[in-house]
Amino acid sequence: MKPLSNTSPSSVDSTNKEWEKSVWLHTRDLEEELSWFDRVLQLRSTLNRGKQDVPYRSVYDLHPPDFSASETSYAHFIRQHQLGFDERLAMMMAIAPHLQPKALDIFLSTDGKDSAQGGSRGKSHKGFLPTGETLLFVLAGENLQKRILLNRLFGREHLFHREKVIWLEEAREEEPLLSGKLKASEEFIDLITTGAMKKPRYGSDFPAKYLSTELEWKDLVLHRETRLRLEEIQHWIEHREQLMGEWEMGKRLRPGYLSLFYGPPGTGKSLSAAVLGKLTGKDVFRIDLSGVVSKYIGETEKKLSGIFDRGEHRDWILFFDEADAIFGKRSDTKDAHDRYANQEVAYLLQRIEEYSGLVVLATNLRSNIDDAFQRRFKSVIPFPMPNVLERKQLWEKSFSSKSRLAEDVDLLQIAREFQLAGGSIINVVEYCSVQAIQAGKQEISRDSLIQGIRLEYQKSGLTL
Ligand SMILES: Nc1ncnc2c1ncn2[C@@H]1O[C@H](COP(=O)(O)OP(=O)(O)OP(=O)(O)O)[C@@H](O)[C@H]1O
Ligand SMILES: [Mg+2]
Repeated sequence: MKPLSNTSPSSVDSTNKEWEKSVWLHTRDLEEELSWFDRVLQLRSTLNRGKQDVPYRSVYDLHPPDFSASETSYAHFIRQHQLGFDERLAMMMAIAPHLQPKALDIFLSTDGKDSAQGGSRGKSHKGFLPTGETLLFVLAGENLQKRILLNRLFGREHLFHREKVIWLEEAREEEPLLSGKLKASEEFIDLITTGAMKKPRYGSDFPAKYLSTELEWKDLVLHRETRLRLEEIQHWIEHREQLMGEWEMGKRLRPGYLSLFYGPPGTGKSLSAAVLGKLTGKDVFRIDLSGVVSKYIGETEKKLSGIFDRGEHRDWILFFDEADAIFGKRSDTKDAHDRYANQEVAYLLQRIEEYSGLVVLATNLRSNIDDAFQRRFKSVIPFPMPNVLERKQLWEKSFSSKSRLAEDVDLLQIAREFQLAGGSIINVVEYCSVQAIQAGKQEISRDSLIQGIRLEYQKSGLTL
């Protein structure tokens, strides 16, 4: 976290104002869209009752609002993907339980009487929860052809599925697919209500964590070669568009960039990925492959596909930790589980190769990665244990500016004597800093430093 003193009250104020303005603009469009949605529902109900006294013959006669000049995220989204009546109505229906549940009350009056309108009721939510059937009921009525055509809204090829905008929850066993509840992602709701995009949260259906850092290039202590290779990746990200577009290399080159980071624990692999993301303005998501590999056939693919689908559109950097779990040396395919493992590898490889952004695989040992994959990497970057001078720098950079070292602490000598990686050094620094604060001092003593180092050694089963 940034220290509070860095943010002056006035900058907080102006950020709040901008935020309020953005919410205001977004709400305005959304109200207009929801009011159109409301009118469509009313009209469907009127038409269904066979009333003749309305000037419309079909719900499609009610045109959605014109947002061609609006600058809100919702308007952009509609324009960018050329979304029409059906898509817009589907999105409004999916978000209605969150933002305007009253609009759906119209279905409650006929609840249960008209099976065609589908829908379900929540456990604590009192309102009506629309299902796929509800949407088709409104858009197609009893027109079978139209109903069939509308199924595409929930197909795997559709933007809604690819970007995880809205979707149908899985229906209960033996019940029709369309009886699944219509859902909207939290991210999408955020985007259209405030214009901001929250990061998706880690969960069983999204096994990736957002990786961020307050540190910069200059805080990294890296071997020269490591730094050069990382800068090459940075340059690729920065010039990719020109390379693939203007230089027309898109037809010759694979779309993305695959890199392998290898080195002992705590040498800065994850941190470097986070810094690269920060530097190039991309979000970095870390996927722990050992946690994703599942013994249930198809599960792993399902979990990972969500990450690739969403990442692709947002240009995330995907950082696969413990890559050996999936890209390790191939065992002889003895039993079914092993055979399946290879199927997972094939799937993951295919997704990685098609991915248009940066994918980083990290491992502790390069030789753990199957030779067959080595040629697919655009770069293979070593993260060696830091040498004496690098360790000295790591020590120097790690202590708080509020603390000072006791006179008998010689960092060069400590760096010479103890072969620790950056990750262990930062642990020792944390240990002695707490010790000092606890003692009411700013000074870091040599004793606490050595004790901290001893504890680090113990962790790896070594003694001083
Ligand atoms: N080269 C480095 N320069 C600066 N700080 C470092 C460096 N390496 C490690 N650190 C410090 O150690 C912490 C842990 O490092 P990091 O998680 O990046 O290591 P890693 O190589 O990903 O380890 P692992 O293989 O265990 O995942 C960093 O957040 C940082 O504070
Ligand atoms: Mg790591």
